[in-house]
Formats: sequence, structure tokens, C-alpha cells
Amino acid sequence: MNHPGWPARLTAGPILLRPPRLLDARAWSEVRLRNERWLDKWEPTSPYTWAERNSPGSWPHLHRALRRAARRGTMIPTMLIYGSTFAGQLNVSNIVHGAQRSCTIGYWIDARLAGRGVVPAALALLIDHCLSEGGMHRVEIDIRPENTASLRVVEKLGLRREGYYERYLDIDGAWRDHVAFAITAEELDGRRLLSRVALPEPPVD
Ligand SMILES: CC(C)(COP(=O)(O)OP(=O)(O)OC[C@H]1O[C@@H](n2cnc3c(N)ncnc32)[C@H](O)[C@@H]1OP(=O)(O)O)[C@@H](O)C(=O)NCCC(=O)NCCS
Repeated sequence: MNHPGWPARLTAGPILLRPPRLLDARAWSEVRLRNERWLDKWEPTSPYTWAERNSPGSWPHLHRALRRAARRGTMIPTMLIYGSTFAGQLNVSNIVHGAQRSCTIGYWIDARLAGRGVVPAALALLIDHCLSEGGMHRVEIDIRPENTASLRVVEKLGLRREGYYERYLDIDGAWRDHVAFAITAEELDGRRLLSRVALPEPPVD
């Protein structure tokens, strides 16, 4: 099954969200390996070491899995480009079709580029896409209560707090509680979520 939200190329100011490419291996791996301490504590538990699962050689397999899920209509994987630099990823996953038409979004950014409002703008852009061309009705973001930076992201977008899931996801070696935030198409009332956030300044190269 395919879905209308894929493939997507979305832009807002200095931000570009585009599908992953096989040639992203080197840039993706360089950023991931450098950000182990920044990212590992927020990511799913894995039997493999950080170096093993983020080496350039692991990208072709991951790239294939992401593209396959996108073609099947269960994901919209995107690479976050800020200016001309690979900066992180935002992935739409758990896409459910039919009567529910719901999905979840996860995200991360290179620590060197954090704190500039890049992810809030990129997330707003992607949520707008999901709730329009993507044919979704509802988008959910799940955040660990101790992740204050990520809680600020959804606060900036004005997402609605929906609930508290106990021991919800297996993250960094344990079942972690998550706070669920969501938005449905009606809450936008025809407007773009992107209009609620300031676009980041372009990077100074
Ligand atoms: C959560 C995350 C995606 C936010 O992205 P971002 O583009 O930095 O978002 P913002 O610029 O809006 O910053 C959000 C908050 O991060 C904090 N922050 C800012 N600069 C920071 C820095 N250099 N280092 C750490 N935190 C910083 C601030 O509290 C900021 O809120 P403020 O703007 O009110 O001061 C990013 O911190 C990240 O990738 N974290 C690791 C992975 C992760 O937690 N993913 C989400 C899982 S739910």
C-alpha cells in the first residue's frame, strides 16, 4: 500500500525535510557517532553498540528498511537539512489508515545545532504535511517526562497534552513512562501549524 504523503520534500526558510538517500551514509554516520552521549539516552534499547548501529555500513540496511516502510504506507522518514547541512531526522511512524488515520512523530537534532528553534519549525512543517497531503487526522508525539528540551518543542507548537503512559516504550535499557501530546486536523481550523512558530535564522557558514 502507498500513501499520498510519500515521498515528500518540504521546505520552510533554511529548513528542508526530504526522503533518506543511500548517499546519506557518511553524513548521517558522522553526526550520529559524534552525538552518542546526546542521543543514546532517548533512543530505543538495542542489543548492538552505538558504534555498530551507527556506522556508515549500517546505513544501507536502515535506509532500505525506512524506504520499504514508506512504500508500504506505515512511515514517512525524513532527513532534516538545515542550510545545506545534514542536521538530524524526523520520522513519521505507526501510521494507521482506515477510520483512525493516526501517526506518531519522533525527532532528533545534532547537538551542535540545538537551541535555534530548528526542530519546532521542522516538526510544524511535518505535522502540517501529515494533516493535509498526508491524509492523516491525528498526530501524536510521546515524550519522556524528564526530556525538558523535547517538552519545550511541543509547548512551542501548542500541542494538546493527552495523557500519561506508564512503562510505555523500551528506551535506554528500561520501560519508560511517556507523556502523550496530540493534535487533530480540526484544531488547525484550516491554518498551518507553521504559522505558530518563528522560523530559525539561516546558519552562518
Ligand atoms: C529535543 C530536541 C529535538 C529539540 O530540538 P531543538 O531544535 O534544539 O529545539 P529548540 O531550539 O526549540 O530548543 C528546545 C529547548 O532545548 C533547550 N536547549 C536549547 N539549547 C540547548 C543546547 N545547546 N543543549 C541542550 N538543550 C538546549 C532549551 O530548553 C530549549 O527551550 P527554549 O527555546 O525555551 O530555551 C533536541 O534537544 C534533541 O535532539 N535532543 C536529543 C534527542 C531527543 O530528545 N529527541 C526527542 C525525543 S522525544
